[in-house]
Amino acid sequence: MAKTSLPSLVDSRDAFQSALHAWYRVHHRKLPWRAAPSLYKTVVSEFMLQQTQVATVLPYFDRWLRALPDFAALAAAPEAKVMKLWEGLGYYSRARNLHKLAQAYATAAAKPRTPAEWRELPGIGPYTAAAITSISFGEPAAVVDGNVVRILARLVGEGRLFRDGTEAVKFFTPLADALVIGSDPGEHNQAMMELGATVCLRANPQCLICPVAKFCVARATGTPEKFPRLKPKVIEQKAVTRAWCEHRNRLLLRRGHAQAKRLAGLHELPETSDLGVKSGAKSLLAVKRRTITRFAITESIHAVKPTAALLKRIAKDEALEWVPLKQLDRVTLSGPHRRWIGELLDR
Ligand code: ADE
Repeated sequence: MAKTSLPSLVDSRDAFQSALHAWYRVHHRKLPWRAAPSLYKTVVSEFMLQQTQVATVLPYFDRWLRALPDFAALAAAPEAKVMKLWEGLGYYSRARNLHKLAQAYATAAAKPRTPAEWRELPGIGPYTAAAITSISFGEPAAVVDGNVVRILARLVGEGRLFRDGTEAVKFFTPLADALVIGSDPGEHNQAMMELGATVCLRANPQCLICPVAKFCVARATGTPEKFPRLKPKVIEQKAVTRAWCEHRNRLLLRRGHAQAKRLAGLHELPETSDLGVKSGAKSLLAVKRRTITRFAITESIHAVKPTAALLKRIAKDEALEWVPLKQLDRVTLSGPHRRWIGELLDR
């Protein structure tokens, strides 16, 4: 960090907050969790917004609130309903954690209030605890994610190379916390989120309309997009072979194991190894590529014949389920599996 810039930004905190908050009050997006906010809406929106963009979340949020309007309704809902409402949003452990959180919250004698108390609940890390408690209870805890790191790295012109996002978040948390003091913390955090999402963009920062440009060291350098500096992610390649097995107008799916963190409550096309079959080039139906966190996954989908021996094996395996083609809407599939199955059935 340019050693002199941290004190100078914190020293200008009042002026910085005034400029940021005045801008936020005029320019913030009118989002459904901001209109008539409630603790429940804040919690649901913060879970949905973890690793997911606002535009993707909007239709899910509205549907969710109509189906499960409060903590009690969510706590009482069957897991399958919760998963179905989350279908396509990805990172499904969020839905399971939100469900568990509602159950814990609904029955808690003393309701959590501070960031530390919220962090005891499932699915709540430092960012979500700070977001919820600052917005709902005025707790002076700063949210720090990739967006906030980017804003702060630029403001102070921090040029060091970070190993990863986690290290950068840790590095900037004291500065972020120092900048919240004396403000309305909920408004401050949302203003920082908004600035990161709409102005202080990764590749194309909109410095000309930035309300805090005059505090920004990186803007003065002329190349704000060079901040922050993060080591490139190492992407691992993975290959998965899946089976497309149809029998009597039913498709074979595998239920995710209740203990399998990523897949519990979801159905997927089974892997050929689940069926003990080998696949050859002749049976290849489709090749799909996707990236999840740090994995680039190539998924090959092969047609597998339901021989008598295979049908016997399938019948013995509780995780495997024949789902009538007409009832595929009833099960919860991840976004990519829903899409692939739709494409293969349309052929
Ligand atoms: N990202 C995380 N929390 C958010 C919020 N409350 N509003 C907009 N974007 C967000």
